[in-house]
Amino acid sequence: MIISGKELAAKLKAEMAEQVATFPEKYGRVPHLVVILVGNDPGSQTYVRNKEKACDVVGFNHTTFRMPEETTEKEVLDKIVELNSDDSVDGILVQLPLPRHISETKVIETISKEKDVDGFHPLNTAELWQKRPNDSCVVPCTPKGIIQLLDAADYKISGKRAVVLGRSQIVGLPISKLLLDRNATVTICHSRTENLPEITRQADILVAAIGKAKFVTGDMVKEGAAVIDVGMDLDENGKLCGDVDFASVEPKASVITPVPGGVGPMTICCLMSNTIQCFLNKMLYKE
Ligand code: GUN
Repeated sequence: MIISGKELAAKLKAEMAEQVATFPEKYGRVPHLVVILVGNDPGSQTYVRNKEKACDVVGFNHTTFRMPEETTEKEVLDKIVELNSDDSVDGILVQLPLPRHISETKVIETISKEKDVDGFHPLNTAELWQKRPNDSCVVPCTPKGIIQLLDAADYKISGKRAVVLGRSQIVGLPISKLLLDRNATVTICHSRTENLPEITRQADILVAAIGKAKFVTGDMVKEGAAVIDVGMDLDENGKLCGDVDFASVEPKASVITPVPGGVGPMTICCLMSNTIQCFLNKMLYKE
């Protein structure tokens, strides 16, 4: 079964749009998401445009600050500080990767925990790893979307062997914790892992998040596995593809996500739900 993240995301966004339409009466306004994009990375430009479109679909107010490549770190941090104290802003997202002269760590730590719709702030990360995620904890968008995809496919995670390829802060590490929370037995693999195909062949759930075009081939996958492709890569002809070689893996998988149209739309959908979460936390708990 090919699970369409595009269809699931469209359904969830339509539900959110209905919810957001009730906000002006209840809270006096709709959520406001601010995105900061520094530089000219082509992938990032596309992501940010898709985020803006999604905000329009669910009915958010949104602002994008497009800053030139040569913007200094201080200018970015100053902008974040200004947005942190702006009461009309509910969520702040700084698109990664940033130009090399700007510290991602400093940027992430400067965004206030309450407006951190990415769930990358150390306090949100700590909550994710110290306990099972709950309503007060913002969970990173891509991992959250992956769990929703598996749930939508009615795939039972509990007790299964999950293998995660990649150990990034954005995907590999948080998806490992979310799968563990759902009682999977999790193995994290990376560029130094020895005998990788031997390990991936044991996976009931295989998550590929390494950024290498068509890296996972049919011979690396167990018959009946659920295969989640987080890659956004370019193939030898410059065409968008994932970390999974779809042609050889799809016949073996019981469940597989396509690229495009799989994990990507769910990431953006979860950004929308995280923004609602930050908005509601503010509206419900302000004095
Ligand atoms: N770049 C790639 N994925 C992401 C993401 O989830 N959030 C941000 N801020 N940047 C990204």
